[in-house]
Amino acid sequence: MSTLKKQISIAKDTVLFKQGEAGDCAYVVESGKVLVYLEIDQKVIPLTHIKKGEIFGEMSLIDSLPRSASVKAVEDTVLNVVTKDQLIERFQGSDQLVQLLLKVMMNRVRKNNSSLTHGSEDNMNQDDTVMDGFENLKFENRLQEALNNQEFEMFYQPIVNMQDSKVVGAEALIRWKDPVIGYIQPDKFIDFLENSSLMVSVGHWIFERCFQDFHKIKGTFGDDFIMSINVSGRQFTHPDFLMDLEKLTWKHKVNPKNIKLEVTERVMMNGVVAIEILDQCKNKGFHISIDDFGTGYSSLQYLSQMPVSYLKIDKSFVSKVNADPKVLAVVKSMVFMAQALGMDIIAEGVETLAERESLLQLGAYYAQGWLYSKALPLDLFMKLPVVILKEKAA
Ligand code: CMP
Ligand code: MG
Repeated sequence: MSTLKKQISIAKDTVLFKQGEAGDCAYVVESGKVLVYLEIDQKVIPLTHIKKGEIFGEMSLIDSLPRSASVKAVEDTVLNVVTKDQLIERFQGSDQLVQLLLKVMMNRVRKNNSSLTHGSEDNMNQDDTVMDGFENLKFENRLQEALNNQEFEMFYQPIVNMQDSKVVGAEALIRWKDPVIGYIQPDKFIDFLENSSLMVSVGHWIFERCFQDFHKIKGTFGDDFIMSINVSGRQFTHPDFLMDLEKLTWKHKVNPKNIKLEVTERVMMNGVVAIEILDQCKNKGFHISIDDFGTGYSSLQYLSQMPVSYLKIDKSFVSKVNADPKVLAVVKSMVFMAQALGMDIIAEGVETLAERESLLQLGAYYAQGWLYSKALPLDLFMKLPVVILKEKAA
C-alpha cells in the first residue's frame, strides 16, 4: 500500500495488543517477526508467525468485532501502520464477491479461535452482513438461472399522444415469471438487478427481445412507432455498451430512429462522460429520454447540454397535479423548461381523464398509464387498437 506513512518499532517480547481489545489499525511487517497467539488460563497457544510483507490486525477493522487474537514481537520488529480508513476504503472498493469471501474466511478464523479458547463456537457474534452477502449471492445466482431458463419476459405499455389518442410507441418493461410461484413483483428484483453485474447480460437480452418484437409491433402500429428501452447506469457506462447496441441494431435490422433509450437522471452524475455517450447514441440516430424526471439528482446545467428529446414526468407528480397547486406549478415549469430546450414531455402514470385534461392544458402531450392501458405481454399489446379513444372529461 503506497499511502502508508507511519512506522513503529517494537522491541522483542513487547505485546502489541491483546485478544478482546478494540482494533483501530492493522500492520504490515517491515522487518522482524510477530507471533499471533491465544491465551487460555495464562497459557499461550501460538497460532502463527507473521513475517516481512505480511499483514495482521485487519480482521477487527473489517468486521468491527474485538481483536480475535493477541500479538507480540518475537524479534525487534518494525511495522507499517495501516489505518482503519485506508483499509476500509480498499475493502469497500473491492468486488462484492471478494468482500463476501473475505468475511466468510474471517468468520471461520474467529470460530476456530473461539473454539480453541472457549471450547465452543456459540459465543460468537454472528456477522449479519455475512448472511446478507450470502442471501445476495444466492439471489444473484437465481437471477442468472432465470436468465438462462428464459424466465424473463418483456411487457409493453403504450405511449399515447393525448391529442388524438394515437399509440405512438411503448415502453418495454421486464417481467419475471418463476415457473413455480408465477410473476414476481418488479420492485422485488429490478433494483437488485440494476446493482449487480448481471445487468449487462440481462440488458443485452432485453435489447435482443425488444428488437425482435419491434418488427411484429411495427406491422400493426406503423413505421413511426418508437420502442422505449430502459438502460441502467451500469449498462450505459459499460465500455462495450455502444458497440453491443450497434451490433444488435445491425443484426436485427432495426433503425435507431425507432428506438428510444430511457436513462434516469442519475446517469447525469457521470457528467461529461454521460454526455459523451449520449451524444454518440444521438449521432447514431437513437432518441433519448430522461426517465422519472424530478425524482432524483437533477443537474439543470447538464440537462441543457444533453441531446435529450423527451422528459418523462414521474407518476408522483402526475397523480397530484389536480390536488396540489404546488405540484401543478412544478409540472407547469417542467413543461415550460422542456419546451424551451426543445424536448417533448411524456407523463407517466396517467390514470384519470381529469389528469389528462390538465396535462393537455399545460402543453404535455404524451402519456402512458392505466387510463390507456397497463403494460401487456406482446400478444395482448398487438390486439390494442391503434387509437385508444377516451371520453372527454366532463
Ligand atoms: P484482528 O482480529 O484485528 O487482530 C488479531 C489478528 O491476528 C487478526 O486480526 C488476524 O490478522 C490475525 N489472526 C487471528 N487469528 C488468526 C489465525 N487463526 N491464524 C492466523 N492469523 C490470525
Ligand atoms: Mg422507464
